[in-house]
Amino acid sequence: MIKVTRKTPESYRGDMVVFFDTEEPGTGAELPAGLRQRLERARKVGDFKGKEGETLLLYPEADWGFTADRILVVGLGKPVAGDGEAGIRRRESLRKAGGTSSATALKLKVQQLFVALPTGTVLPADEEAEALVEGLVLGSYRFDRYKSAEKDNDRPRKIKEIALWAGTTSVRRGVNRGRVAAEAACAARDMANEPANKWTVVSFARYGEQLAERYGLSCRVFAVAELAGLGMGGIIGVGSGSADTPRLVAVEYITDRKAPTLLLVGKGITFDSGGICIKPSAGMEEMKYDMCGGAAVLAAMQAVAEERPVGLNVVALVPAAENLPGPAALKPGDVIHLYGGKTVEVVNTDAEGRLILADALAFGIDKYKPVAVVDIATLTGAVVVALGHHRTGLFANDDTLAERLKKAGDRSGELLWQLPLGEEYTKMLKSEVADLKNIGDRSAGSITAAAFLQEFVGEVPWAHLDIAGTAWNYTEKSYVPKGPSGNGVRTLVELVRGW
Ligand code: BES
Ligand code: ZN
Ligand code: ZN
Repeated sequence: MIKVTRKTPESYRGDMVVFFDTEEPGTGAELPAGLRQRLERARKVGDFKGKEGETLLLYPEADWGFTADRILVVGLGKPVAGDGEAGIRRRESLRKAGGTSSATALKLKVQQLFVALPTGTVLPADEEAEALVEGLVLGSYRFDRYKSAEKDNDRPRKIKEIALWAGTTSVRRGVNRGRVAAEAACAARDMANEPANKWTVVSFARYGEQLAERYGLSCRVFAVAELAGLGMGGIIGVGSGSADTPRLVAVEYITDRKAPTLLLVGKGITFDSGGICIKPSAGMEEMKYDMCGGAAVLAAMQAVAEERPVGLNVVALVPAAENLPGPAALKPGDVIHLYGGKTVEVVNTDAEGRLILADALAFGIDKYKPVAVVDIATLTGAVVVALGHHRTGLFANDDTLAERLKKAGDRSGELLWQLPLGEEYTKMLKSEVADLKNIGDRSAGSITAAAFLQEFVGEVPWAHLDIAGTAWNYTEKSYVPKGPSGNGVRTLVELVRGW
């Protein structure tokens, strides 16, 4: 729980008070005299320099006037100045410092925190609060559901209360924005952390229905019979090797039928074994994360539902299936009919994401007539070869949409890197027997995957985010745990906010 407080740090009776300081003393926060002297001594002997990720834990002396048990000073790194770029850097520095504060609290098993908002110069106070709160919330995330309780453990590792002190309460808006976006990302991490025997196709349907109920949205779940009626042979084909039958989950936030609609589509493969083109077993357990795109769009819907933007409709679609080999599974060479009538030769059953996304994109564009579409998917191993775990691959048929997304990514610290589309790549998908085949040759694997999707979006402004490298094992940061990162959620939330 986060609240904004007007009490002074000295009067706080909880477990720990947190201050921030940069590498240039005095530019991070105004500190009470006793504490400032201690910090100067620590700087003098080189124990605290204010560097990013650095912490100094102190136990206040009686004459400092504090009632809390501990004081933590967290480094913010070099002070940030300037415009544009500087705001982006400052946000990231605050998120990291928030993450470091939470990580320290968890390590010490401290449950109540009082956090003094630093005084920056490049961002207004409510934006400072937004970024810091994002870091605090994202950094306090843990997934220990399947761990038996540790023995002789007096306190569980869980932060129960964060009081943010800003000298003014005008930061509330920023605090809420930060909390809502970060909690959404944590919701996506929770879905992704569930193993594939717990997070199934039905879980996506149930989650969508619960979101709808809780926030007054609508949710429709299309089962196999309806998918067949609509001609969605991609979702049906990919799901046909599994006992867990495929579904398409649609969650709608509709304010006004006449308002523009933004369509979000997320790949929801609850487990990707590769199907008949089965993957090697080493590392296959990670393919439970192949639903991170689906998790991202549902989590983003949760944030949208909490913020309730006006004059805009947002629809999330999750084509959900489990890709397993089985008696009815797709085989290499099979030809399937996707939504809208295009035929596809399935040359490789492991290139399944594009098949379910193509159905969902074509259907969603036809049904909702969106002004823009963004899909997000753990689509290709090739994007990890190209960009590693540090940038999400971005593809778009529309420059304005691409720019909007890049900006949203910069603001949220989830960086995107645009790769090209083009006729040369589309041609690589020519099939001898069908309208197109589902893979190209070994080259440009992420681009041909995107080019495949492009065949199903027509002229609507569309962008595709390939999060195969960033959905888990994302760049190590204090506010990003090992395992699923929730990457993409805050970018989508930011895109909606700025629409
Ligand atoms: N889910 C995988 C992509 C993936 C691989 C995500 C590694 C994260 C890490 C996708 O369905 C897939 O298997 N793609 C194939 C495509 C190939 C058969 C053309 C790939 O990337 O190898
Ligand atoms: Zn696959
Ligand atoms: Zn996959």
